[in-house]
Amino acid sequence: MKFLKQFINGLRRPKLSDQNTSAHSEFLNLSDPKLIANFLEISKNLRPVCPLSTGGYLLLDHKDIREAFYNRSLCNQPSRFSVLSKRNQSKYVAASIAANIPPFLDSDRHTLIRRWLAISYANRLKSFNEKIESIADEILSSMVVGSEYLLVENMARRYSVEVMRTFLEIEFDDQQIKSYTSALFRLFAPAQSAIEFEKTEIALNDARQAILNTIGEEKYNGSLVTYMRENCPAALSGERYEEIIADNMLLLLADGVENVEAAIGSVLIQWYESDLRPSELTDSFVRKSIKRDTPGQTVPRICSETLRIAGEKINPGTPVFLSLSSANALAEKEDYSFGIGRHKCIGEKLAISMIYEFCRRLLQHDFTIDTSEIHYQAQFGHKWIRGVRIKIVSLLK
Ligand code: HEM
Repeated sequence: MKFLKQFINGLRRPKLSDQNTSAHSEFLNLSDPKLIANFLEISKNLRPVCPLSTGGYLLLDHKDIREAFYNRSLCNQPSRFSVLSKRNQSKYVAASIAANIPPFLDSDRHTLIRRWLAISYANRLKSFNEKIESIADEILSSMVVGSEYLLVENMARRYSVEVMRTFLEIEFDDQQIKSYTSALFRLFAPAQSAIEFEKTEIALNDARQAILNTIGEEKYNGSLVTYMRENCPAALSGERYEEIIADNMLLLLADGVENVEAAIGSVLIQWYESDLRPSELTDSFVRKSIKRDTPGQTVPRICSETLRIAGEKINPGTPVFLSLSSANALAEKEDYSFGIGRHKCIGEKLAISMIYEFCRRLLQHDFTIDTSEIHYQAQFGHKWIRGVRIKIVSLLK
C-alpha cells in the first residue's frame, strides 16, 4: 500500500546534505528503549539537527527548538502525503479524529476547537480537585503491607485511569481504556505497518463509538460534556459536533493516563534516590522532577516551506521533531515539559494536581523502591517507565 511507504506526518527519509554526513552517519531511532533510557547522554554527541530512522529530523538545540515553537512554517496539520491528512477523513477514522483534535490542527480551526476545549475543561476542573484527593486515598488504602507492586503499571495506572474515568464520566474498564489511549498515541508516531494501522483504526473506531454511546446518556450539569455542548462554537454547528466532543474526550483520556502515570513513576524515583529529599513533597519538587525527566520527550511538527535550521535544508513535507528533553536540559529558567506557544498543554494544571496529590499521600507511608529492572516502553518520542517495583513496609509512618 502506497501510504505505508510514507510517513504519518510527511515524506520519506531525508537525504543528508554533505555538511550533515560528517559527524554521525547513523539515523536515530526514537522508539529504541536504549536510546530512550540514555537520551541526554547520547544526544551530547549528536548534531543539533539530527536525522531520524523513521524520516525527518530531531532538533536538539535549545535556541532552534524555541524558535521552532513560534515558526508558522512548522505546522501541526499533517501533510497531504500523510494518512492523517484531511482528504482521508472519510476513508480513515484516524484521519477523521486528527481533523477534530488540537494537536493535528493549525490556524482557525485549531483556535476554535482549542478554545472550546480549554474553556469546557477549565469549568469541569473547578469542582474536581476534591475528587482527585479522594481517588488517591482510595487507591492507596487498598495497598497491602508487605506486598510488592509495579509502581507505574499497577499503582499509578490504576490511579490515573480512575481519575480520568471520573473526570470524563465514562464507565469503560481498564483494558478498554488502555487500548483506546494506546491507539491515540500511535497517531503521534511515524510510519506503522499495514497491520498495525488496521489495529489502530479498529481501536479508534471502538473508542469513538463507546464515547458517543456514553455521552448520549443523560449528563448532569457540571459534566465536561454539558460544558462542551453549552460552549459549542456557532461555526461548528453544521458539523457532527458530537463526534468532535467524543474525539476530544478521547484526547484528554489519553493525555491524562499515559503521561501522568509515567510522571508519577519518575517523580517518586527521583524523590527516593535524592540525597536531599524533602520530607513533605512540594509543587516545585514535582515540577523540577518532570523538567529533569519529562515523559513527553519530543513534539512533532511538519515543515510547510523550505527552511534552513543550523545549516540543514529542510524541505516542505518533512517531519521535524522538537526535543523537549534537550531543551529542558539546556534551559535554565524555561520549562518545556508541557510545550510552549499555541499548542501548549491544556491539561497542565490537572496533571500537576494528579501527580502531586498521589505522590504526597504515598510519601506518608513507609516503602522501598527497587529500580533494578527499570526499562522503558518502545514508544516513539516518549519516556514511559516500566518495571519499577514498590513494596509497602508500613502504612502511615
Ligand atoms: C505529565 C503530564 C503531561 C505532560 C508531560 C504533557 C505534555 C504535553 C505537551 C508536550 C504537549 C504538546 C505541545 C505541543 O505540541 O507543542 C501537550 C499538549 C496537550 N495536552 Fe498535555 N501533558 C500532560 C498531561 C495532560 C493532561 C492531564 C491533559 C488533559 C487531561 C493534557 C491535555 C493536552 C492537550 C489537549 C494538548 C493539545 C494542545 C494543543 O495542541 O493545542 N495533557 N501536552
